[in-house]
Amino acid sequence: MLRATDLRFRYQEGGPWIVDGASLGVDAGETVAIMGPSGSGKTTLLHLLCGLLAPAEGEVLLAGEPISRMPDGKRSRIRLERFGFVFQFGELVPELTVLENVALPLMLAGSPRGRAEERARAQLELLEIGRYAGRRVGEISGGEAQRVAIARALVHEPHIVLADEPTGALDHDTSELVVGALVDPAVRRGAALVVATHDSLVADATDRVLILTDGILKQR
Ligand SMILES: Nc1ncnc2c1ncn2[C@@H]1O[C@H](COP(=O)(O)OP(=O)(O)O)[C@@H](O)[C@H]1O
Ligand SMILES: [Mg+2]
Repeated sequence: MLRATDLRFRYQEGGPWIVDGASLGVDAGETVAIMGPSGSGKTTLLHLLCGLLAPAEGEVLLAGEPISRMPDGKRSRIRLERFGFVFQFGELVPELTVLENVALPLMLAGSPRGRAEERARAQLELLEIGRYAGRRVGEISGGEAQRVAIARALVHEPHIVLADEPTGALDHDTSELVVGALVDPAVRRGAALVVATHDSLVADATDRVLILTDGILKQR
């Protein structure tokens, strides 16, 4: 599904290589955790995988197509359609309700509001958080917001779900709920999941764990 080969990346010419020969393959329905200390390049790697950053060397293939070499417009469209992204702090839009937040990616992709909200509601029900639909983001807890962020990442049925320390700001029990909400639907739907994490709870729930050190991914 997603294959990255010998990726190298640095933010400034002449600066340190943040990613220095990393390779990774994830199949449909497979879940992979990427672990590594803070600053090891996990976020950078996720951004390379979805084409938000372009590698200096190596390439990222999505279903055999090199996203790293697509024109910008096509790459953005593919990112919107095929990828779902869960951020560490959810990054929901505070002015909108939970339902509107989850409907947003569908509307950005051109879906009419009614249809988008119908699918958003179904996704919230699936994650058993339908009761929050009408609430503003400021009126729910951190763990609830993170499950809303997962609903938003899954609502357009992406082929690849990328999650960046999704439990980084949560306590143990809430983390368990969030891990279930992230891993189970991804697997059930045959999406590939790559999750950057410090959390052994997340690592224990995935099929494979890779460690990012010195810009390279190694088997644990
Ligand atoms: N936009 C940026 N410009 C320059 N350096 C950056 C930028 N973003 C991250 N870095 C650096 O790249 C390294 C890896 O960062 P990051 O990918 O955020 O690691 P992690 O997610 O594992 O904490 C760090 O040294 C960080 O300071
Ligand atoms: Mg990070």
